[in-house]
Amino acid sequence: MAHFLTYLLLSFLIIYDSLGLSQSNQFCDAGVGYPESTCGFSSSSSSKLLIKGGTVLNAHQQEVADVYVEDGIIVAVKPNIKVDEDVTLLDATGKYVMPGGIDPHTHLAMEFMGTETIDDFFSGQAAALAGGTTMHIDFVIPVNGSLVTGFEAYKKKAKKSCMNYGFHMAITKWDESVSREMEIMVKEKGINSFKFFMAYKGSLMISDELLLQGLERCKSLGALAMVHAENGDAVFEGQKRMIDLGITGPEGHALSRPPVLEGEATARAIRLAKFVNTPLYVVHVMSIDAMEEIARARKSGQKVIGEPVVSGLVLNDSGLWDPDFVTAAKYVMSPPIRESGHDKALQAALSTGVLQLVGTDHCTFNSTQKAFGIDDFRKIPNGVNGIEERMHLVWDTMVESGQISVTDFVRITSTECARIFNIYPRKGAILVGSDADIIIFNPNSSFEISASMHHSRTDTNVYDGRKGKGKVEVTIVGGRVVWQDNELKVVPGSGKYIEMPPFSYLFNGIDKADAKYLSSLQAPVKRYFTAS
Ligand code: URP
Ligand code: ZN
Ligand code: ZN
Repeated sequence: MAHFLTYLLLSFLIIYDSLGLSQSNQFCDAGVGYPESTCGFSSSSSSKLLIKGGTVLNAHQQEVADVYVEDGIIVAVKPNIKVDEDVTLLDATGKYVMPGGIDPHTHLAMEFMGTETIDDFFSGQAAALAGGTTMHIDFVIPVNGSLVTGFEAYKKKAKKSCMNYGFHMAITKWDESVSREMEIMVKEKGINSFKFFMAYKGSLMISDELLLQGLERCKSLGALAMVHAENGDAVFEGQKRMIDLGITGPEGHALSRPPVLEGEATARAIRLAKFVNTPLYVVHVMSIDAMEEIARARKSGQKVIGEPVVSGLVLNDSGLWDPDFVTAAKYVMSPPIRESGHDKALQAALSTGVLQLVGTDHCTFNSTQKAFGIDDFRKIPNGVNGIEERMHLVWDTMVESGQISVTDFVRITSTECARIFNIYPRKGAILVGSDADIIIFNPNSSFEISASMHHSRTDTNVYDGRKGKGKVEVTIVGGRVVWQDNELKVVPGSGKYIEMPPFSYLFNGIDKADAKYLSSLQAPVKRYFTAS
Protein backbone atom coordinates (compact mmCIF):
# COMPACT_ATOMS: atom_id res chain seq x y z
CA MET A 1 0.00 0.00 0.00
CA ALA A 2 2.79 2.40 1.00
CA HIS A 3 4.58 1.62 -2.28
CA PHE A 4 1.42 2.24 -4.26
CA LEU A 5 0.92 5.62 -2.58
CA THR A 6 4.53 6.60 -3.27
CA TYR A 7 4.06 5.52 -6.91
CA LEU A 8 0.91 7.63 -7.22
CA LEU A 9 2.66 10.60 -5.70
CA LEU A 10 5.69 10.18 -7.96
CA SER A 11 3.50 9.93 -11.05
CA PHE A 12 1.73 13.12 -10.08
CA LEU A 13 5.01 14.93 -9.54
CA ILE A 14 6.49 13.74 -12.81
CA ILE A 15 3.44 15.08 -14.67
CA TYR A 16 3.62 18.23 -12.58
CA ASP A 17 7.28 18.68 -13.48
CA SER A 18 6.81 17.88 -17.15
CA LEU A 19 4.26 20.67 -17.36
CA GLY A 20 6.99 23.01 -16.21
CA LEU A 21 5.18 23.64 -12.99
CA SER A 22 8.07 23.06 -10.63
CA GLN A 23 11.29 24.99 -10.22
CA SER A 24 14.69 24.14 -8.91
CA ASN A 25 14.08 25.77 -5.53
CA GLN A 26 13.92 23.61 -2.45
CA PHE A 27 10.23 23.09 -1.99
CA CYS A 28 9.06 19.75 -2.95
CA ASP A 29 10.84 16.94 -3.42
CA ALA A 30 7.17 17.17 -2.53
CA GLY A 31 7.31 14.51 -0.01
CA VAL A 32 8.82 11.85 -2.23
CA GLY A 33 10.58 9.45 0.02
CA TYR A 34 8.70 10.61 3.10
CA PRO A 35 6.28 8.22 4.70
CA GLU A 36 2.66 9.29 4.17
CA SER A 37 2.31 10.37 7.79
CA THR A 38 4.91 13.12 7.45
CA CYS A 39 3.82 14.44 4.07
CA GLY A 40 1.54 17.41 4.52
CA PHE A 41 -1.57 16.44 6.42
CA SER A 42 -4.37 14.05 5.85
CA SER A 43 -7.55 13.79 7.80
CA SER A 44 -7.36 10.03 8.12
CA SER A 45 -3.97 9.67 9.78
CA SER A 46 -3.44 10.46 13.45
CA SER A 47 -0.55 12.47 14.85
CA LYS A 48 0.73 13.32 18.28
CA LEU A 49 3.16 16.13 18.84
CA LEU A 50 4.61 17.76 21.93
CA ILE A 51 6.31 21.15 21.67
CA LYS A 52 8.33 21.49 24.84
CA GLY A 53 9.63 24.42 26.84
CA GLY A 54 8.86 27.34 24.56
CA THR A 55 7.27 30.68 25.30
CA VAL A 56 3.75 30.40 23.95
CA LEU A 57 2.58 33.62 22.34
CA ASN A 58 -1.03 34.58 21.89
CA ALA A 59 -2.34 38.03 21.07
CA HIS A 60 -3.67 38.35 24.63
CA GLN A 61 -0.77 36.86 26.63
CA GLN A 62 2.55 35.06 26.73
CA GLU A 63 3.47 32.15 28.99
CA VAL A 64 6.11 29.45 29.24
CA ALA A 65 4.25 26.22 28.47
CA ASP A 66 4.28 22.99 26.52
CA VAL A 67 1.82 22.51 23.68
CA TYR A 68 0.37 19.06 23.04
CA VAL A 69 -1.31 18.23 19.73
CA GLU A 70 -3.39 15.24 18.70
CA ASP A 71 -4.98 14.70 15.29
CA GLY A 72 -4.40 18.25 14.19
CA ILE A 73 -5.94 19.91 17.24
CA ILE A 74 -4.27 21.53 20.25
CA VAL A 75 -5.41 19.49 23.24
CA ALA A 76 -3.27 20.94 26.05
CA VAL A 77 -1.29 24.11 26.77
CA LYS A 78 0.43 23.98 30.17
CA PRO A 79 3.84 23.45 31.75
CA ASN A 80 5.45 20.00 32.07
CA ILE A 81 3.12 17.90 29.98
CA LYS A 82 4.06 14.18 30.23
CA VAL A 83 3.46 11.99 27.18
CA ASP A 84 4.02 8.43 25.92
CA GLU A 85 6.94 7.43 23.76
CA ASP A 86 4.98 7.42 20.51
CA VAL A 87 4.72 11.21 20.57
CA THR A 88 6.99 13.35 18.36
CA LEU A 89 8.92 15.83 20.51
CA LEU A 90 10.01 19.31 19.41
CA ASP A 91 12.25 21.29 21.75
CA ALA A 92 11.33 24.99 21.76
CA THR A 93 13.44 26.10 24.71
CA GLY A 94 14.42 29.75 24.31
CA LYS A 95 12.06 30.12 21.33
CA TYR A 96 8.56 31.41 20.70
CA VAL A 97 5.66 29.10 19.91
CA MET A 98 2.90 31.04 18.18
CA PRO A 99 -0.03 30.69 15.78
CA GLY A 100 0.97 30.30 12.14
CA GLY A 101 0.60 33.48 10.13
CA ILE A 102 -2.63 34.20 8.26
CA ASP A 103 -2.19 36.31 5.14
CA PRO A 104 -5.47 38.09 4.37
CA HIS A 105 -4.54 39.16 0.85
CA THR A 106 -3.05 37.00 -1.90
CA HIS A 107 -3.51 36.31 -5.60
CA LEU A 108 -2.44 32.79 -6.58
CA ALA A 109 -3.04 31.52 -10.12
CA MET A 110 -4.82 34.79 -10.91
CA GLU A 111 -5.49 35.76 -14.51
CA PHE A 112 -4.67 39.44 -14.66
CA MET A 113 -3.48 42.00 -17.22
CA GLY A 114 -3.29 39.45 -20.02
CA THR A 115 -1.30 36.85 -18.12
CA GLU A 116 -1.45 34.65 -15.02
CA THR A 117 0.48 34.97 -11.76
CA ILE A 118 3.47 32.65 -11.72
CA ASP A 119 2.70 31.27 -8.25
CA ASP A 120 -0.18 28.86 -8.10
CA PHE A 121 -1.87 27.27 -5.11
CA PHE A 122 1.07 24.91 -4.63
CA SER A 123 4.16 27.03 -5.18
CA GLY A 124 2.67 30.05 -3.43
CA GLN A 125 1.62 27.99 -0.45
CA ALA A 126 4.97 26.18 -0.28
CA ALA A 127 6.59 29.61 -0.10
CA ALA A 128 4.12 30.68 2.59
CA LEU A 129 4.87 27.64 4.75
CA ALA A 130 8.63 28.21 4.50
CA GLY A 131 7.97 31.68 5.87
CA GLY A 132 5.67 30.62 8.72
CA THR A 133 2.29 31.40 7.16
CA THR A 134 -0.19 28.53 7.50
CA MET A 135 -3.32 30.09 6.01
CA HIS A 136 -4.08 32.68 3.35
CA ILE A 137 -7.22 34.19 1.91
CA ASP A 138 -7.21 34.53 -1.87
CA PHE A 139 -9.48 36.57 -4.12
CA VAL A 140 -11.80 34.67 -6.45
CA ILE A 141 -12.33 36.60 -9.67
CA PRO A 142 -15.77 35.96 -11.22
CA VAL A 143 -15.92 34.51 -14.74
CA ASN A 144 -17.89 36.84 -17.03
CA GLY A 145 -19.38 38.32 -13.88
CA SER A 146 -20.58 34.93 -12.58
CA LEU A 147 -19.62 34.26 -8.97
CA VAL A 148 -20.58 30.59 -9.07
CA THR A 149 -18.47 29.92 -12.16
CA GLY A 150 -15.58 31.89 -10.63
CA PHE A 151 -15.84 29.90 -7.42
CA GLU A 152 -15.78 26.59 -9.31
CA ALA A 153 -12.73 27.73 -11.29
CA TYR A 154 -10.85 28.64 -8.10
CA LYS A 155 -11.88 25.38 -6.45
CA LYS A 156 -10.13 23.65 -9.33
CA LYS A 157 -7.05 25.87 -9.10
CA ALA A 158 -6.85 25.15 -5.36
CA LYS A 159 -6.87 21.37 -5.77
CA LYS A 160 -3.07 21.38 -5.51
CA SER A 161 -3.10 23.24 -2.17
CA CYS A 162 -0.88 22.15 0.70
CA MET A 163 -2.10 24.43 3.51
CA ASN A 164 -5.22 26.18 4.81
CA TYR A 165 -6.87 28.66 2.50
CA GLY A 166 -10.08 30.65 2.29
CA PHE A 167 -11.63 32.87 -0.35
CA HIS A 168 -12.81 36.44 -0.72
CA MET A 169 -14.85 37.14 -3.86
CA ALA A 170 -14.46 40.11 -6.20
CA ILE A 171 -17.59 41.80 -7.56
CA THR A 172 -17.04 43.10 -11.07
CA LYS A 173 -20.55 43.76 -12.38
CA TRP A 174 -24.05 44.17 -10.94
CA ASP A 175 -27.39 42.59 -11.72
CA GLU A 176 -29.99 40.43 -10.01
CA SER A 177 -28.01 37.26 -10.61
CA VAL A 178 -24.86 38.70 -8.96
CA SER A 179 -26.94 39.73 -5.98
CA ARG A 180 -28.42 36.21 -5.76
CA GLU A 181 -25.03 34.57 -6.18
CA MET A 182 -23.60 36.65 -3.34
CA GLU A 183 -26.13 34.95 -1.07
CA ILE A 184 -25.09 31.53 -2.38
CA MET A 185 -21.44 32.36 -1.71
CA VAL A 186 -22.19 33.36 1.87
CA LYS A 187 -24.75 30.71 2.78
CA GLU A 188 -23.34 27.72 0.90
CA LYS A 189 -19.70 28.34 -0.01
CA GLY A 190 -18.07 29.76 3.10
CA ILE A 191 -17.25 33.21 1.71
CA ASN A 192 -17.88 36.18 4.02
CA SER A 193 -16.18 39.06 2.20
CA PHE A 194 -16.52 40.76 -1.18
CA LYS A 195 -13.99 43.05 -2.83
CA PHE A 196 -14.78 46.05 -4.99
CA PHE A 197 -12.06 47.43 -7.25
CA MET A 198 -12.33 51.24 -7.56
CA ALA A 199 -9.44 51.13 -10.07
CA TYR A 200 -8.37 49.12 -13.15
CA LYS A 201 -10.67 51.01 -15.52
CA GLY A 202 -11.91 48.82 -18.37
CA SER A 203 -11.40 45.55 -16.50
CA LEU A 204 -12.16 45.11 -12.80
CA MET A 205 -13.26 48.66 -11.94
CA ILE A 206 -16.78 49.26 -10.63
CA SER A 207 -18.85 52.46 -10.43
CA ASP A 208 -20.00 54.27 -7.28
CA GLU A 209 -23.51 53.08 -8.07
CA LEU A 210 -22.34 49.46 -8.06
CA LEU A 211 -20.31 50.03 -4.91
CA LEU A 212 -23.41 51.35 -3.14
CA GLN A 213 -25.51 48.39 -4.22
CA GLY A 214 -22.71 46.04 -3.20
CA LEU A 215 -22.36 47.66 0.23
CA GLU A 216 -26.10 47.28 0.85
CA ARG A 217 -26.00 43.63 -0.19
CA CYS A 218 -22.93 42.91 1.94
CA LYS A 219 -24.68 44.43 4.93
CA SER A 220 -27.80 42.32 4.49
CA LEU A 221 -25.70 39.14 4.24
CA GLY A 222 -23.34 39.95 7.12
CA ALA A 223 -20.43 39.96 4.67
CA LEU A 224 -17.49 42.34 4.89
CA ALA A 225 -17.08 44.79 2.02
CA MET A 226 -13.47 45.32 0.92
CA VAL A 227 -12.16 48.01 -1.41
CA HIS A 228 -9.14 48.56 -3.61
CA ALA A 229 -9.24 52.31 -3.16
CA GLU A 230 -7.83 54.40 -6.02
CA ASN A 231 -9.76 56.77 -8.27
CA GLY A 232 -9.67 54.67 -11.46
CA ASP A 233 -10.87 57.46 -13.77
CA ALA A 234 -8.17 59.82 -12.54
CA VAL A 235 -5.54 57.06 -12.75
CA PHE A 236 -6.54 56.58 -16.38
CA GLU A 237 -6.01 60.30 -17.02
CA GLY A 238 -2.73 60.26 -15.06
CA GLN A 239 -1.46 57.42 -17.22
CA LYS A 240 -2.29 59.32 -20.43
CA ARG A 241 -0.55 62.38 -18.99
CA MET A 242 2.68 60.40 -18.42
CA ILE A 243 2.62 58.81 -21.87
CA ASP A 244 2.06 62.25 -23.45
CA LEU A 245 5.11 63.48 -21.52
CA GLY A 246 7.13 60.60 -22.96
CA ILE A 247 7.43 58.87 -19.57
CA THR A 248 6.88 55.24 -20.52
CA GLY A 249 9.05 53.43 -17.95
CA PRO A 250 8.11 51.98 -14.53
CA GLU A 251 8.54 55.38 -12.82
CA GLY A 252 5.52 56.48 -14.88
CA HIS A 253 3.47 53.97 -12.90
CA ALA A 254 4.12 55.80 -9.62
CA LEU A 255 3.75 59.24 -11.19
CA SER A 256 0.43 58.41 -12.82
CA ARG A 257 -1.37 57.37 -9.64
CA PRO A 258 -0.20 59.63 -6.77
CA PRO A 259 -1.30 59.28 -3.12
CA VAL A 260 -4.03 61.91 -3.53
CA LEU A 261 -5.98 59.47 -5.73
CA GLU A 262 -5.70 56.76 -3.10
CA GLY A 263 -6.79 59.20 -0.39
CA GLU A 264 -9.78 60.38 -2.46
CA ALA A 265 -11.07 56.86 -3.15
CA THR A 266 -10.49 55.76 0.44
CA ALA A 267 -12.48 58.75 1.70
CA ARG A 268 -15.26 58.07 -0.81
CA ALA A 269 -15.55 54.39 0.09
CA ILE A 270 -15.54 55.23 3.80
CA ARG A 271 -18.31 57.79 3.37
CA LEU A 272 -20.44 55.43 1.29
CA ALA A 273 -19.97 52.69 3.91
CA LYS A 274 -21.04 55.21 6.57
CA PHE A 275 -24.11 56.12 4.52
CA VAL A 276 -25.04 52.42 4.33
CA ASN A 277 -23.87 51.77 7.91
CA THR A 278 -21.81 48.69 7.14
CA PRO A 279 -18.22 47.79 8.07
CA LEU A 280 -15.49 48.43 5.50
CA TYR A 281 -12.08 46.82 4.96
CA VAL A 282 -9.55 48.86 2.97
CA VAL A 283 -6.97 46.55 1.36
CA HIS A 284 -3.33 47.49 0.69
CA VAL A 285 -3.22 50.90 2.40
CA MET A 286 -0.08 52.37 0.80
CA SER A 287 -0.12 56.06 1.65
CA ILE A 288 -0.41 58.55 4.49
CA ASP A 289 -3.37 60.02 2.59
CA ALA A 290 -5.40 56.81 2.79
CA MET A 291 -4.23 55.99 6.32
CA GLU A 292 -5.37 59.40 7.61
CA GLU A 293 -8.85 58.90 6.16
CA ILE A 294 -9.06 55.58 8.02
CA ALA A 295 -7.77 57.17 11.22
CA ARG A 296 -10.41 59.92 11.01
CA ALA A 297 -13.23 57.45 10.39
CA ARG A 298 -12.18 55.16 13.23
CA LYS A 299 -11.89 58.12 15.59
CA SER A 300 -15.47 59.02 14.77
CA GLY A 301 -16.56 55.49 15.68
CA GLN A 302 -16.93 54.06 12.19
CA LYS A 303 -16.00 50.40 11.69
CA VAL A 304 -13.18 50.63 9.17
CA ILE A 305 -10.32 48.15 8.97
CA GLY A 306 -7.04 49.20 7.34
CA GLU A 307 -4.68 46.61 5.92
CA PRO A 308 -1.14 47.72 5.09
CA VAL A 309 0.96 45.26 3.10
CA VAL A 310 4.60 44.40 3.64
CA SER A 311 5.78 46.25 0.53
CA GLY A 312 4.16 49.46 1.75
CA LEU A 313 5.64 49.06 5.22
CA VAL A 314 9.25 48.35 4.32
CA LEU A 315 9.93 49.66 0.80
CA ASN A 316 9.96 53.05 -0.87
CA ASP A 317 9.53 54.00 -4.51
CA SER A 318 13.23 54.52 -5.33
CA GLY A 319 13.44 51.12 -7.10
CA LEU A 320 10.98 52.33 -9.74
CA TRP A 321 13.63 54.80 -10.93
CA ASP A 322 16.29 52.09 -11.31
CA PRO A 323 17.85 52.29 -14.80
CA ASP A 324 17.61 48.50 -15.15
CA PHE A 325 14.11 47.69 -16.44
CA VAL A 326 13.89 44.26 -14.77
CA THR A 327 14.77 45.77 -11.39
CA ALA A 328 12.39 48.71 -11.77
CA ALA A 329 9.49 46.65 -13.13
CA LYS A 330 9.53 44.17 -10.27
CA TYR A 331 8.35 46.98 -7.94
CA VAL A 332 5.27 47.81 -10.03
CA MET A 333 2.13 47.20 -8.02
CA SER A 334 -1.06 49.15 -7.32
CA PRO A 335 -1.51 51.35 -5.45
CA PRO A 336 2.17 52.13 -6.03
CA ILE A 337 4.92 51.79 -3.44
CA ARG A 338 5.26 55.37 -2.19
CA GLU A 339 8.03 57.86 -1.51
CA SER A 340 10.09 57.38 1.63
CA GLY A 341 8.11 58.65 4.62
CA HIS A 342 4.88 56.83 3.83
CA ASP A 343 6.51 53.56 4.99
CA LYS A 344 7.39 54.93 8.44
CA ALA A 345 3.97 56.56 8.83
CA LEU A 346 2.25 53.26 8.03
CA GLN A 347 4.45 51.48 10.58
CA ALA A 348 3.45 54.03 13.21
CA ALA A 349 -0.22 53.60 12.32
CA LEU A 350 0.14 49.85 12.68
CA SER A 351 1.81 50.16 16.05
CA THR A 352 -0.89 52.47 17.40
CA GLY A 353 -3.87 50.47 16.16
CA VAL A 354 -4.96 52.84 13.40
CA LEU A 355 -4.20 49.94 11.01
CA GLN A 356 -5.02 46.47 12.25
CA LEU A 357 -3.34 43.63 10.36
CA VAL A 358 -0.69 43.02 7.71
CA GLY A 359 -1.19 41.34 4.34
CA THR A 360 1.08 40.85 1.37
CA ASP A 361 -0.98 41.20 -1.81
CA HIS A 362 1.34 38.42 -3.05
CA CYS A 363 0.79 38.61 -6.82
CA THR A 364 3.90 37.47 -8.63
CA PHE A 365 4.96 37.77 -12.24
CA ASN A 366 8.39 36.81 -13.51
CA SER A 367 10.64 39.16 -15.44
CA THR A 368 9.44 37.83 -18.80
CA GLN A 369 5.87 38.71 -17.84
CA LYS A 370 6.91 42.09 -16.44
CA ALA A 371 8.65 42.77 -19.78
CA PHE A 372 5.23 42.91 -21.50
CA GLY A 373 5.47 46.55 -20.47
CA ILE A 374 9.01 47.27 -21.67
CA ASP A 375 7.74 50.15 -23.85
CA ASP A 376 4.70 51.15 -21.81
CA PHE A 377 4.41 50.95 -18.02
CA ARG A 378 0.63 50.46 -18.36
CA LYS A 379 1.30 46.95 -19.67
CA ILE A 380 3.56 45.81 -16.82
CA PRO A 381 1.53 43.26 -14.83
CA ASN A 382 0.91 44.77 -11.40
CA GLY A 383 2.07 42.85 -8.35
CA VAL A 384 4.91 41.95 -6.01
CA ASN A 385 5.90 38.97 -3.86
CA GLY A 386 5.69 38.72 -0.06
CA ILE A 387 3.89 35.59 1.10
CA GLU A 388 7.16 33.97 2.23
CA GLU A 389 8.77 37.14 3.57
CA ARG A 390 5.90 38.70 5.54
CA MET A 391 6.49 37.15 8.97
CA HIS A 392 10.24 37.79 8.98
CA LEU A 393 10.01 41.35 7.67
CA VAL A 394 7.22 42.35 10.04
CA TRP A 395 9.12 40.90 12.99
CA ASP A 396 12.34 42.65 12.03
CA THR A 397 10.70 45.96 11.14
CA MET A 398 8.16 46.19 13.94
CA VAL A 399 9.34 44.05 16.87
CA GLU A 400 13.11 44.41 16.59
CA SER A 401 12.73 48.17 16.23
CA GLY A 402 10.70 48.27 19.45
CA GLN A 403 7.52 49.56 17.79
CA ILE A 404 5.34 46.64 18.88
CA SER A 405 5.44 43.82 21.43
CA VAL A 406 5.77 40.13 20.62
CA THR A 407 2.09 39.60 21.44
CA ASP A 408 1.15 42.46 19.11
CA PHE A 409 3.12 40.64 16.43
CA VAL A 410 0.78 37.67 16.81
CA ARG A 411 -2.23 39.98 16.68
CA ILE A 412 -1.27 41.75 13.44
CA THR A 413 0.02 38.67 11.59
CA SER A 414 -2.61 36.13 12.63
CA THR A 415 -5.20 36.73 15.36
CA GLU A 416 -6.81 39.91 14.04
CA CYS A 417 -7.24 38.35 10.62
CA ALA A 418 -8.94 35.32 12.21
CA ARG A 419 -11.26 37.63 14.18
CA ILE A 420 -12.16 39.84 11.22
CA PHE A 421 -12.96 36.86 9.01
CA ASN A 422 -14.77 35.06 11.82
CA ILE A 423 -12.62 31.97 12.27
CA TYR A 424 -11.17 32.81 15.71
CA PRO A 425 -10.29 30.94 17.93
CA ARG A 426 -10.17 27.95 15.58
CA LYS A 427 -7.41 29.91 13.84
CA GLY A 428 -5.11 32.62 15.13
CA ALA A 429 -4.57 31.18 18.60
CA ILE A 430 -2.63 28.62 20.59
CA LEU A 431 -5.56 27.51 22.74
CA VAL A 432 -7.07 24.17 23.66
CA GLY A 433 -9.40 23.29 20.79
CA SER A 434 -7.68 25.47 18.18
CA ASP A 435 -6.33 23.96 14.97
CA ALA A 436 -2.67 23.03 15.36
CA ASP A 437 -1.29 25.61 12.91
CA ILE A 438 1.83 26.58 14.81
CA ILE A 439 5.27 28.00 14.23
CA ILE A 440 8.43 27.85 16.31
CA PHE A 441 10.26 31.14 15.96
CA ASN A 442 13.86 31.67 17.09
CA PRO A 443 14.35 35.35 17.96
CA ASN A 444 18.11 34.85 18.29
CA SER A 445 18.60 33.47 14.80
CA SER A 446 18.51 35.49 11.59
CA PHE A 447 17.04 35.46 8.09
CA GLU A 448 18.30 36.50 4.69
CA ILE A 449 16.14 36.92 1.60
CA SER A 450 17.31 36.12 -1.90
CA ALA A 451 15.60 35.52 -5.23
CA SER A 452 17.76 32.45 -5.79
CA MET A 453 16.78 30.80 -2.51
CA HIS A 454 13.13 31.75 -2.08
CA HIS A 455 10.37 29.22 -2.75
CA SER A 456 8.22 31.32 -5.04
CA ARG A 457 8.48 30.54 -8.76
CA THR A 458 9.27 34.10 -9.65
CA ASP A 459 12.83 34.95 -10.63
CA THR A 460 12.98 38.28 -8.81
CA ASN A 461 12.26 39.35 -5.25
CA VAL A 462 11.49 42.90 -4.16
CA TYR A 463 13.20 42.16 -0.83
CA ASP A 464 16.32 40.61 -2.38
CA GLY A 465 19.33 41.02 -0.11
CA ARG A 466 17.39 41.93 3.03
CA LYS A 467 18.70 40.46 6.27
CA GLY A 468 17.30 40.65 9.75
CA LYS A 469 16.80 39.09 13.14
CA GLY A 470 14.52 36.16 13.88
CA LYS A 471 13.79 32.96 12.00
CA VAL A 472 10.83 30.64 11.52
CA GLU A 473 12.48 27.31 12.30
CA VAL A 474 9.45 25.03 12.29
CA THR A 475 6.05 25.31 10.62
CA ILE A 476 3.23 22.97 11.60
CA VAL A 477 -0.05 22.78 9.68
CA GLY A 478 -2.93 20.76 11.02
CA GLY A 479 -0.55 19.02 13.42
CA ARG A 480 2.00 18.06 10.72
CA VAL A 481 5.53 19.39 10.61
CA VAL A 482 5.94 20.78 7.09
CA TRP A 483 9.01 23.02 7.51
CA GLN A 484 12.03 22.09 9.61
CA ASP A 485 15.80 22.33 9.19
CA ASN A 486 15.21 24.58 6.16
CA GLU A 487 13.39 21.79 4.40
CA LEU A 488 9.81 21.58 3.18
CA LYS A 489 7.77 18.40 3.37
CA VAL A 490 4.61 19.25 1.50
CA VAL A 491 2.31 17.45 -0.86
CA PRO A 492 0.00 19.03 -3.43
CA GLY A 493 -3.58 18.18 -2.60
CA SER A 494 -3.14 18.07 1.17
CA GLY A 495 -4.53 21.56 1.78
CA LYS A 496 -7.80 22.42 3.43
CA TYR A 497 -10.50 24.91 2.44
CA ILE A 498 -11.61 26.93 5.45
CA GLU A 499 -15.19 28.15 5.33
CA MET A 500 -15.73 31.52 6.96
CA PRO A 501 -19.15 32.31 8.46
CA PRO A 502 -20.84 35.72 8.08
CA PHE A 503 -21.60 38.29 10.79
CA SER A 504 -18.18 38.71 12.39
CA TYR A 505 -17.78 40.91 15.47
CA LEU A 506 -17.68 43.93 13.14
CA PHE A 507 -21.44 43.57 12.69
CA ASN A 508 -22.18 43.79 16.42
CA GLY A 509 -24.44 46.74 17.08
CA ILE A 510 -25.23 47.54 13.43
CA ASP A 511 -28.92 46.71 13.94
CA LYS A 512 -29.11 48.88 17.06
CA ALA A 513 -27.47 51.81 15.27
CA ASP A 514 -29.94 51.39 12.39
CA ALA A 515 -32.86 51.38 14.80
CA LYS A 516 -31.53 54.49 16.51
CA TYR A 517 -31.13 56.22 13.17
CA LEU A 518 -34.68 55.34 12.12
CA SER A 519 -36.14 56.57 15.39
CA SER A 520 -34.22 59.84 15.07
CA LEU A 521 -35.70 60.79 11.72
CA GLN A 522 -38.81 62.57 12.97
CA ALA A 523 -40.31 61.76 9.61
CA PRO A 524 -42.49 61.45 7.71
CA VAL A 525 -44.08 64.63 9.04
CA LYS A 526 -47.88 64.43 9.15
CA ARG A 527 -48.84 67.54 7.19
CA TYR A 528 -52.03 69.33 6.60
CA PHE A 529 -52.76 71.66 3.77
CA THR A 530 -54.27 75.02 4.43
CA ALA A 531 -55.90 76.45 1.38
CA SER A 532 -55.68 80.24 1.23
O1 URP B 1 -0.68 45.37 -7.93
C1 URP B 1 -1.48 44.66 -7.37
N1 URP B 1 -1.93 45.04 -6.19
N2 URP B 1 -1.90 43.53 -7.96
C2 URP B 1 -2.89 42.65 -7.48
C3 URP B 1 -4.28 43.13 -7.73
C4 URP B 1 -4.73 44.09 -6.67
O2 URP B 1 -4.95 45.25 -6.97
O3 URP B 1 -4.86 43.72 -5.51
ZN1 ZN C 1 -5.96 45.79 -5.21
ZN1 ZN D 1 -4.52 42.43 -4.22
